[in-house]
Amino acid sequence: METTLVILKPSALLHGYVGQIIQRFQQKGLVIRGMKMMQLNEAILNEHYAHLIDRPFFPNLLKSMMASPVIVMALWGKDAVEVVRMMTGATNGRKAAPGTIRGDFSMSGQENIIHASDTTENAEIELKRFFKPEEIFDFVPTSIKYTYEPTELL
Ligand code: PPS
Repeated sequence: METTLVILKPSALLHGYVGQIIQRFQQKGLVIRGMKMMQLNEAILNEHYAHLIDRPFFPNLLKSMMASPVIVMALWGKDAVEVVRMMTGATNGRKAAPGTIRGDFSMSGQENIIHASDTTENAEIELKRFFKPEEIFDFVPTSIKYTYEPTELL
């Protein structure tokens, strides 16, 4: 079992899509172990998007990510990183498959609704970046036995 980091971007909040997106994760069987609203600033974005700092779109990316508060989520489940990435879809909403979050809610590479960690290593780093340890709750819902069969939980 693993935990991954999701950011519901300003494009999700400003369109009012937050509830629909959270519902998708919950009905899939992912468990919300942490969730909060926060206003991102340049310092944390420079760190989070350090690999993109030289890209021409970086200044616009910063502006877009600070356009409103975001919601950060820690989602827990079997293969959570891969499952959430599949649900997220391709970076550009116009190219993301229908049925994915970006495919259903976005027409853009920048205003693409959601960020999701791409590897388990990055998930660990990104969870620490956005959450204090006490903001992630180590609980297992009783419904877990109806979500997985026992060997999947090992
Ligand atoms: S890339 O281009 O292959 O490095 O793409 P990726 O690693 O998926 O990350 C790109 C993130 O930058 C945001 N962004 C854009 N991407 C492509 N083109 C444009 N113009 C652009 N503007 C912003 C994109 O939403 C990705 O954000 P995250 O939060 O990582 O999904």
